[in-house]
Amino acid sequence: MIEFYLGDITTLKTDAIVNAANNSLLGGGGVDGAIHRAAGPKLLEECRTKNGCQTGQACLTRGYNLPAKYVIHTVGPIYRNGKNNEQELLASCYIESLKLAQKEHIKNIVFPSISTGAYGYPVNLAAPVAVKTVLEFFKSHQDIELKVTFCLFDERTYNAYVNAYAQLQQETL
Ligand code: AR6
Repeated sequence: MIEFYLGDITTLKTDAIVNAANNSLLGGGGVDGAIHRAAGPKLLEECRTKNGCQTGQACLTRGYNLPAKYVIHTVGPIYRNGKNNEQELLASCYIESLKLAQKEHIKNIVFPSISTGAYGYPVNLAAPVAVKTVLEFFKSHQDIELKVTFCLFDERTYNAYVNAYAQLQQETL
């Protein structure tokens, strides 16, 4: 189960939303800033107990004042030229977040477009990696009861994800 939604991730009432964080986990701009603002200061307090997060890894906190119950914080790669493991690290963000959701018996998880803002990953390259990684996770975990939504903040990003999905569906026909 995979869906695409155009809008603000901080407004979604769901089990878990994913934050595109940085290694410190202490907040920043973009979706990270929006999530911290909406969750309130207790989120930062819990993040301080984590000792940061490595690129491509993920960790879980509560959602506090957010409508979402949990926040899964993951750190995407900074895109340089595509020759620094960016693709593997981006895929790892999705895999580690999905594994964490599975471990916590989360049924609904919402991802933003990790790395395609401040971290500069071209969205036309990131979208196929994101969608393919989720589809492959489903394939290798057929018993999993999980709905994945991509929440995209602008139309260009939304279209890139919807098109990547359509393309991957065609390739498997
Ligand atoms: N809801 C959904 N998506 C959003 C929202 C929102 N409220 N706000 C922004 N986006 P970015 P990154 C989109 O820069 O590239 C932070 O400072 C945005 O339009 O948030 O992984 C962190 O602390 C874009 O499509 O994340 C790190 O230092 C996407 O979210 C750094 O930025 C990701 O953009 C991480 O950079």
